[in-house]
Amino acid sequence: MNKEQLIIFDTTLRDGEQSPGASMTRDEKVRIARALEKMRVDVIEAGFPIASPGDFASVQAVAEAVDDSIVCGLARALDKDIDSAGAALKKANAARIHTFIATSPIHMREKLRMTPEAVLQQAVHAVQRARNFTDNVEFSPEDAGRSEVDFLCRVIEAVIDAGATTINIPDTVGYNIPHQFGQLIRSLRERIPNADKAVFSVHCHNDLGLAVANSLAAVRAGARQVECTINGLGERAGNAALEEIAMAVRTRQDVFDCDTHLDTTQIVPCSRLVSSITGFPVQPNKAIVGANAFAHESGIHQDGVLKSRETYEIMRAQDVGWKKNQIVLGKHSGRNALRTRLQELGIELESEEALNDAFIRFKQLADRKHEIFDEDLQALVSETSAEAKEIYKLVYLHVCSETGEKPVATVTLSVDGEEHTREAVGGGPVDAAYRAIKDIIGSNCRLLLYSVNNITTGTDAQGEVTVRLEQDGRVFNGQGADTDIVIASAKAYLNGLNKIKTQKERAHPQLGDV
Ligand code: KIV
Ligand code: ZN
Repeated sequence: MNKEQLIIFDTTLRDGEQSPGASMTRDEKVRIARALEKMRVDVIEAGFPIASPGDFASVQAVAEAVDDSIVCGLARALDKDIDSAGAALKKANAARIHTFIATSPIHMREKLRMTPEAVLQQAVHAVQRARNFTDNVEFSPEDAGRSEVDFLCRVIEAVIDAGATTINIPDTVGYNIPHQFGQLIRSLRERIPNADKAVFSVHCHNDLGLAVANSLAAVRAGARQVECTINGLGERAGNAALEEIAMAVRTRQDVFDCDTHLDTTQIVPCSRLVSSITGFPVQPNKAIVGANAFAHESGIHQDGVLKSRETYEIMRAQDVGWKKNQIVLGKHSGRNALRTRLQELGIELESEEALNDAFIRFKQLADRKHEIFDEDLQALVSETSAEAKEIYKLVYLHVCSETGEKPVATVTLSVDGEEHTREAVGGGPVDAAYRAIKDIIGSNCRLLLYSVNNITTGTDAQGEVTVRLEQDGRVFNGQGADTDIVIASAKAYLNGLNKIKTQKERAHPQLGDV
């Protein structure tokens, strides 16, 4: 029997980005959108175009880059928001406008200061306006999880009549409990006379750790779209994790009368990409994508799995994209082999120059590390971003660490082709290197986050460092990878500083140092 489709609406680039500190640049969003498309995500919410010119440009860039998934832009129920979303999505193959207004008593009274009647009318007007841009319009009654059901029914019936094709029920503050949320979806579908004219969707936040459970209860009650994010990224405690929703539904087909169209083998690569771009590490015991999700420690379990995998595993690791580390390239591999492998990984370098640059880095890495894995290649291209010109380049780094002594770093940077050297003492080797770099550049940016992850296993593995820097209220992430984590740290710092500098140069070409 053919199952109904469960539509996967990914909002990593919108709600995920609302996670404090998870801001992404336009190019980073395009890379994630391409990975989501490869996973066959049905709808990609690319951003909130009215929020800032950067958000507008990102939605526009994702709309241009993506062919197969629907690209969605968020808009409050305001004309200017909807027009901005319509304009940003103009070039999308398939576009959706997602408009919302709050319907809970507390939001209407305290935040909007509007009467319920005025909210209802504004919702209808917003949907009608959005329909001028696209036939694919989603409406969300924000804070539906704390709204009165009678009022919700009236609003939803009216917006479906006005042309909304998807009705999304958000548990905005993560207040609901699974049986209650499932019952809400069931009763809305039963009570609203035109409910069959729209797809019901849910959008659950994780404040009580119930976002996935609530979403699944809603699916059991007839919801056919789930809004979720990679690694559960999102505002406050996050959103429902895409990987958990997808694998729960796929694994328990005895319980669910629908399934997604996802290529689940793309889950782990996508999770890694999001983690490395945002600098939010994935906890080892995280379901599906955590490093320990398929690791068996106890002797009894290991013995069981060796005899029959199903004794302790309910999913196959390779079905969600875990692979045995495969040596893919080595010291003697040529430029073509690199290009082909990158293409197989879904990475298209924009120009021959970018390939040449990646090839030089690849050869440098292969000199130090005999076995190059896919993950190493991914990290290698993460560092080369078209958005950040290499204005500051690491030429030389020497750090002296000794028990009982403060580490000293000597750093030489090339700044616009001119070499500068400084020495600095720090609390640790990375701190010393950062002080020397800061001294050369004269930067006053703030370091908000510093995180190190090992890319593969083994003591010769590359460490991947992500830093988050803040300058004049704007946040930039930098990445760097190397078998030496002090060098990886310096590269990540310079990558972030180059992004700040490049942005500044674009905005004010006459400005000097960061
Ligand atoms: O959590 C929420 O209510 C939202 C809406 C905009 C759907 O993110
Ligand atoms: Zn949300």
